[in-house]
Amino acid sequence: MFHDCRGLPLTAASKTAADAFDRAIDSYLGYRSDMMARMQTLLAADPGCGLAHTLMGCLLLMGFRSDLLPAARAALADSRACPGTNREKAHADALAHWIDGDPKAAIAVWDQILADHPHDVLAFRLAHFLNFWCGRPEAMLASVLSIERHWSPALPGYGSILACRCFAFEEAGDYLQAEHAGREAVRRDPGDLWAAHGVAHVLEMTGRRLEGIAWVRGLESGWDGTNNLKHHLWWHRAMYHLELGDSATVLSLYDSGFRDLDSPLTRAAPDLYIDVQNAASMLFRLGRFGVDAGGRWEEIADKAQARIGDCQSAFTLPHWMMALAATGREHAARDMLAAMRDFASGTQPIAGLVRDIALPVTEAVLAHGQGRHADAVALMRPVIGEMYLMGGSHAQQDVLEQVFLDSALKSGSALDARMILQRVAGRHPVPPERRRGYAMGAHLLAG
Ligand SMILES: [Fe+2]
Repeated sequence: MFHDCRGLPLTAASKTAADAFDRAIDSYLGYRSDMMARMQTLLAADPGCGLAHTLMGCLLLMGFRSDLLPAARAALADSRACPGTNREKAHADALAHWIDGDPKAAIAVWDQILADHPHDVLAFRLAHFLNFWCGRPEAMLASVLSIERHWSPALPGYGSILACRCFAFEEAGDYLQAEHAGREAVRRDPGDLWAAHGVAHVLEMTGRRLEGIAWVRGLESGWDGTNNLKHHLWWHRAMYHLELGDSATVLSLYDSGFRDLDSPLTRAAPDLYIDVQNAASMLFRLGRFGVDAGGRWEEIADKAQARIGDCQSAFTLPHWMMALAATGREHAARDMLAAMRDFASGTQPIAGLVRDIALPVTEAVLAHGQGRHADAVALMRPVIGEMYLMGGSHAQQDVLEQVFLDSALKSGSALDARMILQRVAGRHPVPPERRRGYAMGAHLLAG
């Protein structure tokens, strides 16, 4: 029996294969763009490594694409055909739940693995990831707190625990604890993208915009070889510039940073969910401030049309609709909603999420785009307190709250505008009067 670099037994054919597994996990933890190349090396070294096949299945699902589900199922079948320890078999069970559209069941399996094996950083990071996309910051935090006493700086991957501690505390609203953990992780490894990201959130939420710009600019030279999370960091930087009223820099970062259509990362995955969320939410915000986006919506709308019916990423759906609405593609918008209703009639938990939350929110985005503001408010109001279940950070959910506020103001519903402003003020340390997306509404109501 071989062991991984954290001492967990690993069913592998050789020391070479076990080392290749460690290198693949390193790439995953480090948000490296060579992840798939390292997986190929691993599977070539040991086609009978069950946990490697499971990891491959999880990586395929991480793109939230329905057209990759068959490949994930094939990876699961390959994994099931391999020998493995109980821990390795449990990982395959988690993958099966995820494939079946039940991410919370997958998380429960990873939590059980962690109870027995707190050094299983793969189970930890996968649970962190899916807890985030299920809108469960409290579970992200509980997960970190349950394992961290078993970790020490000497254990490979410790920085990843710190980075997740940072983001979990940030989303829980404890910015002091979050910043401390994130800065410590970056001090240990300036290329730690997840820790840099967690601190970027702290700086966003606490309104430290100049510090935020300096933070991202000071670290970005160390991000060569990282994956699309780098784009999201540039989106965060653009968010600071946006708040400072510097739309020119926002557009420059859009074109040459987080939506650079010519970059190898974007070419490799031109419609990746996180990139689409970055792009659409920023163009939406710019539109509210009267900035002309030029033809930028069109390429997103093209991709939205091509993905009609794919509901694997609930939070991306209203972003796709923003593009269809902004480009006036009414037929495509109608087709998209019909496909969502079709998907929502299924029995999987993610079908219920689309039915109950994503569908009314996405309909509201279309209504907003078509100027039917009273409709948008009526559609969104019943689910405004549950939108977080689609996943996404407070900073990302913000764009949906802006949709609601904009429609509330334009439909003349002061009651709804006041409600959303109070809701936003309740969890954001910077008062609405000092945030561009909310200031006008706040002043109108105050007047
Ligand atoms: Fe973020």
